Amino acid sequence: MTATAEYVFQTGISPASRETYAVDETLTHCPVSHDLLDVQYEWDKLPVPSSLREFERRWSSRRNPLDFSGVWRFRELLPFAPPEQIVTIGEGQTILQQSDYVGKYVGLNDGCLHLQYEGLNPSGSFKDNGMTAASTHARMVGAKLSACASTGNTSASLAIYAGVTQLFRCLVFVGSGKIAYGKLSQALDYGAKTLQIEGDFDDALMQVRAVCDEAGIYLCNSVNPFRLEGQKTIMYRVLEGLGWEVPDWIVVPGGNLGNSSAFGKAFIELMQLGLIDRIPRLAVINAAGANTLYELYEQQGLRWNDGRPDQALIDAFYADMDAKNRRANTLASAIEINRPVNLTKCLRALDACDGVVREVTDEEILHGKAQVGAGGFGCEPASGASVAGARLLRQQGVIAPSDRVVCILTGHQLKDPTATVNYHTADLDGSADSAVSSANPPIVVPNDFDRIMEIIRQFE
Ligand code: F0G
Repeated sequence: MTATAEYVFQTGISPASRETYAVDETLTHCPVSHDLLDVQYEWDKLPVPSSLREFERRWSSRRNPLDFSGVWRFRELLPFAPPEQIVTIGEGQTILQQSDYVGKYVGLNDGCLHLQYEGLNPSGSFKDNGMTAASTHARMVGAKLSACASTGNTSASLAIYAGVTQLFRCLVFVGSGKIAYGKLSQALDYGAKTLQIEGDFDDALMQVRAVCDEAGIYLCNSVNPFRLEGQKTIMYRVLEGLGWEVPDWIVVPGGNLGNSSAFGKAFIELMQLGLIDRIPRLAVINAAGANTLYELYEQQGLRWNDGRPDQALIDAFYADMDAKNRRANTLASAIEINRPVNLTKCLRALDACDGVVREVTDEEILHGKAQVGAGGFGCEPASGASVAGARLLRQQGVIAPSDRVVCILTGHQLKDPTATVNYHTADLDGSADSAVSSANPPIVVPNDFDRIMEIIRQFE
């Protein structure tokens, strides 16, 4: 290990578990308390820039792959790896777009809505921010085989890192039926050994965790604390896109709750380091058909409670879910998750960021997605949840028209073409609301020049 290793360690997230573990241990929970683990740094012994602006200097040395990476450009803020061990494939070249078109839909004043396009990553989703970090740690510990369960994007991301770097082989577990073809095609094409479990994502995750424990395979789901270190950088790039000003709101879809957890940690640390002077509010948006966080946080009042969330409440919720055999069900297949593994870390983020949680229907998600398609660069259905959620919070008066809002668009438009084409070609529920529907169906015309011209003239 290098000099930094002694100032980096892993620890359980609740005050009850103060066990610490070395940076080169491969753990996904504290063996004593069973808590999720965090990567923690002794910041006072590590070199941290005195201002976030200092990171901008790296734009001028982009030939260095670490400076080119939108994750490792910020390496002093996730300093767990010796630079020579860092695995990068050029992730994090993503952009923040001001979109007044989508802002109007949400109900915001011009200039107030920004879209953060994480679909512009190499594998087409935000997961690459985390996978570069997990792959780096996998290399540090000498892993030769890695695995994940996935609704599609994690598997595409792990597969591309394994394929491009050839540092390790990978196994991906997916549920049956719901995975979008864009994502499945990536895992297959990049050479991942793909196991299609007869069950849903929650089943696949439970299996892969057990398999990795049993066989000593390196696990790359978001229970891996190093993955979340990489995902913190999405927030650094948002701040950078806003000239290092802190927005009023970050709005993000919630599935396994890795992103929201990482965002909270990013802001907690930036405050600790004196690099920002306030924390934005966080809105996590569930699909109504996969709304565990919404139910527990907004309906049942579950809170972080200084690291002691009411476990009995959580256990009772899951027991009831099992008794009723309630399964997650949403068109936004990326967030079709009923047992979010990062629940307690997300509670910490909501606590730090004065957060709110909302649920939105599949129709609202698809309308939000269509707005991003028509007034932006497009996104996959799950990402549309952030726009739909921002709109709902605006309607409820929680977000003000003059608030500066950043919606995180987690996945690329081409990930799930089936959902997009279905939206534009079908009346969603038989009652398409023209005020919010932007369906843009193809016009069917005979193979006849005159008839084609008749139609063209309508557009002149
Ligand atoms: N958006 C997209 C496009 C996703 O792929 C995911 C998660 C989420 C949002 C939810 O993010 O889990 O951090 O709350 N996809 C995982 C996967 C589960 O397997 O690809 P989260």
